[in-house]
Amino acid sequence: MDIAKLRQTAENAGQGQVFRFWDELDEAGKTQLAGQLAGLDFEELNDLAAAYVVKRPETAIPADLAPAPFFPAHPRNEAEKAYYAKAFAAGEELLRSGRVCMLTVAGGQGTRLGFDGPKGTYPIGPVSGRSLFGYFAGTIKAAQEKYGKPITWYLMTSVINDGPTRAFFRENNYFGLDPERVMFFTQGSMPAFGRDGKLLLGAKDSLSLSPNGHGGTLLALKTSGALARMEKENCDVISYFQVDNPLAPMIDPLFLGLHLLEGSEMSAIMLPKTNPYEKLGNFCVTGGRTQIIEYSDLPAELAESRNEDGSLRFVAGSPAIHVISRDFVSRLTSGGRLQLPWHRADKKVPCMDADGTLVKPEEPNAVKLESFIFDALPLAAKTVILEGNREGMFAPTKNSTGVDSAESCREMLLERDARVLESAGFAVRKADGSRIADIELAPEYAVNPELLRKFAGRAIQEGVREVWE
Ligand code: UTP
Repeated sequence: MDIAKLRQTAENAGQGQVFRFWDELDEAGKTQLAGQLAGLDFEELNDLAAAYVVKRPETAIPADLAPAPFFPAHPRNEAEKAYYAKAFAAGEELLRSGRVCMLTVAGGQGTRLGFDGPKGTYPIGPVSGRSLFGYFAGTIKAAQEKYGKPITWYLMTSVINDGPTRAFFRENNYFGLDPERVMFFTQGSMPAFGRDGKLLLGAKDSLSLSPNGHGGTLLALKTSGALARMEKENCDVISYFQVDNPLAPMIDPLFLGLHLLEGSEMSAIMLPKTNPYEKLGNFCVTGGRTQIIEYSDLPAELAESRNEDGSLRFVAGSPAIHVISRDFVSRLTSGGRLQLPWHRADKKVPCMDADGTLVKPEEPNAVKLESFIFDALPLAAKTVILEGNREGMFAPTKNSTGVDSAESCREMLLERDARVLESAGFAVRKADGSRIADIELAPEYAVNPELLRKFAGRAIQEGVREVWE
């Protein structure tokens, strides 16, 4: 590698600070830093810094912005009922013919949770301490048994957590799944900027790199060979969910079937927002295309606008659950490139100061740029949005306590399991509706409640905390 030329390029771009400690580095350090820098397009990064970092980009709200239409959770008339039944059957047929694969995005840093390790390894099981990955694996195992076809699970990691994620799967024997059917792939990285647009060093021999957002998934599917593998395995429907939501409807025949029957390229579950400012992206339509407008970008007069019956006009919030057609991803990434819009996030990023001391800031000091998968929605010729049910589908584990936390997620898992037990005929509640005990079910039972027959006659003792495996 021509270091002098690389250095000159960085200096010409006003980014020479990345070489500040070069002379102090050993060979390994030099190789690492030079490798990172050689992969950068300094001009493009400076353009990004000018557009997103030095000034704050304004999100233009199109004048024709309207709420996106959606399929209601429950059919409203006989015709819809028949159509939903047809869609459900089509979804089950997709599963039975092995055309559906799973895609978990697990490349994030999980900073809010404050957990040391990949988020998927977090012990979310309310009684068992089962990991998030363990929940998904159990669900996949049950679906394979129910539909009689192997399901390939694609897991996106990032350079930060790829090694520990793979190790965790090995230590847990892939949770009983066939290791051949689990494919890890790594997303791209983006360097963090100081507020002045200068690239930050996380160490003397390294840029401060972080994953490039879940929008990075689509290109990473292509570059990793995952798309080619899907094609080889005749799988053309991707069930997409985030690693922090163990209730995600990964195996949802109605959702899969509607996607198929409607000829959708990218579909989404929507949840009715509980208030105008709930922190969910808003499903909207503009220029005939579906688009998500972030909660922070939707102007108050739109967020608060109501229909005649008092319901919110922009009611559809996104829990980040999608069904995506393989062909759509192939089309978007066919040129080996895909640039979704960037989003700016102001973060606290530890970095080297001019003297070579690692500074851990108390306040946001840096800008990270990420792309989001939902920005592919407007690129889809056809989309389907289906209303989901919050209690059964959305338990995001973002924080350790409070709203959207491990605590609230555990409670939702126990409630989901109580509903599964109840529908299988077990007495689980007191007269006031509260649970008599904390019974955690292995995830298999939610997919296949018939399996609960093996516990027939077992009484649930008041006040116990148990795991039913
Ligand atoms: P979040 O936006 O909640 O980010 O990711 P996070 O990194 O998990 O958590 P914080 O914000 O640092 O607390 C939503 C989902 O997208 C994945 C995450 O792993 C999670 O499943 N994700 C996010 C990626 O796979 N890659 C990314 O670059 C960002």
